[in-house]
Amino acid sequence: MTGRVRTGVLISGRGSNMRALIEAAREPDFPAEIALVLSDNPQAEGLAAARGAGAAAAALDYKGFPGKSAFEAAMTAELAAAGVELICLAGFMHILSAAFVDRWRGRILNIHPSLLPDLRGLHTHARALAEGRDEHGCTVHFVTAELDVGPIVAQARAPVLPGDDVERLADRVLAEEHRIYPQALDAVARALRAGRAEAGARRLA
Ligand code: GRF
Repeated sequence: MTGRVRTGVLISGRGSNMRALIEAAREPDFPAEIALVLSDNPQAEGLAAARGAGAAAAALDYKGFPGKSAFEAAMTAELAAAGVELICLAGFMHILSAAFVDRWRGRILNIHPSLLPDLRGLHTHARALAEGRDEHGCTVHFVTAELDVGPIVAQARAPVLPGDDVERLADRVLAEEHRIYPQALDAVARALRAGRAEAGARRLA
């Protein structure tokens, strides 16, 4: 009942946020453990990094499935087999169906590279530069069926500096992502664990 919250991290590529989560979860009093890293792309760079860091990692090649629902059913089966209770999307480039989000309601987090609700969608750094913003940042939020609009858990600001290009700005924002995603997971896992303890106490009462 007081065990760590088993967390699955879904990736498609580099996996630097995933690494930040694995790193944070090494702390003995961190309330979540990374039970599985799952990728929709067998070539994802992050898979080797996950295994190198001692995490269980698997790939389900999206292209090998007849459609989204078969792919998502396979993901749910993998996650459930690993005892996953909470999912962190970390650069997962697949839009989840309403059915999948409903199955994991209140248990999927995402990190998005903008100060939501500002700059939803893709290419946020290029858009921040093109619009001449002087401030940018990142957000951890719960995932709902609508893209990039779920309840916000944590945000961090990053300045847009003179001479920035997409890469420099993205690096500055990414450093903030690596700082706030573990903090957000910490907070959400603590809340889930408290809920679990409360439900257990109710059963015993
Ligand atoms: C990050 O910028 C994240 O905000 C976005 O995708 C990128 C993933 O990077 N959702 P990484 O794979 O975690 O390095």
